[in-house]
Amino acid sequence: MKPRKFLAPAAAVAVLALTLTACGGGSTGGSGGGGDAASQNLDSRGPITFVTGKDNSGVWQPTIDRWNAAHPNEKVTLKEQTDNADQQHDDLVQHFQGQSADYDVVTVDVVWSAEFAAKGWLQPLKDSMKVDTSTLLPATVKAATYNNTLFAVPVSSDGGLLYYRKDLVPNPPKTWDEMMNMCSIAKQHNMSCYAGQLAKYEGLTVNAAEAINTFGGKIVDDQGKAAVNSPEAKTGLSKLVDAYKSGNIPKQATTYQEEQGRAAFEAGQLLFLRNWPYVYNLAKTDGNSKVKDTFGVAPLPGKDGPGASSLGGHSAAVSVYSKHKATAHDFAQWLLQDDQQKFFALKGSLAPVTNALYKDADITAKLPYMPTLLTSIENAVPRPVTPYYPAVTKAVQDNTYAALQGDKSVDQALSDMQAAIDAAGH
Ligand code: GLC
Repeated sequence: MKPRKFLAPAAAVAVLALTLTACGGGSTGGSGGGGDAASQNLDSRGPITFVTGKDNSGVWQPTIDRWNAAHPNEKVTLKEQTDNADQQHDDLVQHFQGQSADYDVVTVDVVWSAEFAAKGWLQPLKDSMKVDTSTLLPATVKAATYNNTLFAVPVSSDGGLLYYRKDLVPNPPKTWDEMMNMCSIAKQHNMSCYAGQLAKYEGLTVNAAEAINTFGGKIVDDQGKAAVNSPEAKTGLSKLVDAYKSGNIPKQATTYQEEQGRAAFEAGQLLFLRNWPYVYNLAKTDGNSKVKDTFGVAPLPGKDGPGASSLGGHSAAVSVYSKHKATAHDFAQWLLQDDQQKFFALKGSLAPVTNALYKDADITAKLPYMPTLLTSIENAVPRPVTPYYPAVTKAVQDNTYAALQGDKSVDQALSDMQAAIDAAGH
């Protein structure tokens, strides 16, 4: 076998199956089929627990209340995790490893699907567990599919947007360089210019990938092989690093996850913010927001035109260890129906997974940037799809962070990133 670990999904599963068999581990098998646990409790109904990251948008309890009112014998209990994507991931891994029946339906970030499916933790959504995905955005379905099997129900998509102060910048920048030139406006107003998610966690991978992809680079190639040590990736990563060094990105931005950046923007401290759609509703309605009437939304700035967003989003998966899988399945499927999807958009400005809702009159009246968001999602670049994603994202995070801090040159960071991605899974 070649000394690399990123293979086309089918080949990756075959390798993993062999690895698990050879190790005598993996009671559920590595075929992504879920083995024994996946064949149990399929028809069983009863109360279930739904697990999701911190509900910044306040959409989950009202949604679950509606479900519970209609299903008194199959009530759902909400369990909220923290708002940090890495901690959410680790919490799920711990529960799956313990074969816990406490988590019935779990929220899976698009970048965890391959890992969790390959480990046999997610119930394959086929046969009696089938879900109709025909009305959904293809990228959301693809992100929930592994080895040609659907393993989760897309619930919300995510695409990066540029939030900007339209009172200070009447025409938002179309390119990264234009945006950097506008940083003089921030200085005049005693504000910081730009921030995204640059703390060392999954958000940094999102932002680094966007910089790299926007300038024509790639993290892995079409075969899944590390391809990040390229002149294009160097240009992209250098844009971020240079902006940080020059102060166009403020020092504290390397502590920002989504929520800290939102707080700075709402406090009027930032001219430009890269963030996800959920920020729109909060920046408009939050009691603390000073920018309610003064911000606009634009595509991410790119090289010559719009930049490349990383594809984000979440799906609802049924744990193979759930004792009430018929209820879990029905609840997950119910989440993608128009009523729920519309509620998520209207109440939380979350990106629908249903194509038609981007043209829905109620939604576009409230969220005028829906066409921009749809374009962002349709052109978004998935982060690497691999069961070894934790090692890949660590390679991107560690080296990007070191380059930002000046501990490594961009060249060194990319060459170390390349080597660490190559070694992932070994
Ligand atoms: C958002 C995205 C998700 C991403 C995370 C990073 O929640 O939807 O895909 O991994 O942000 O912080």
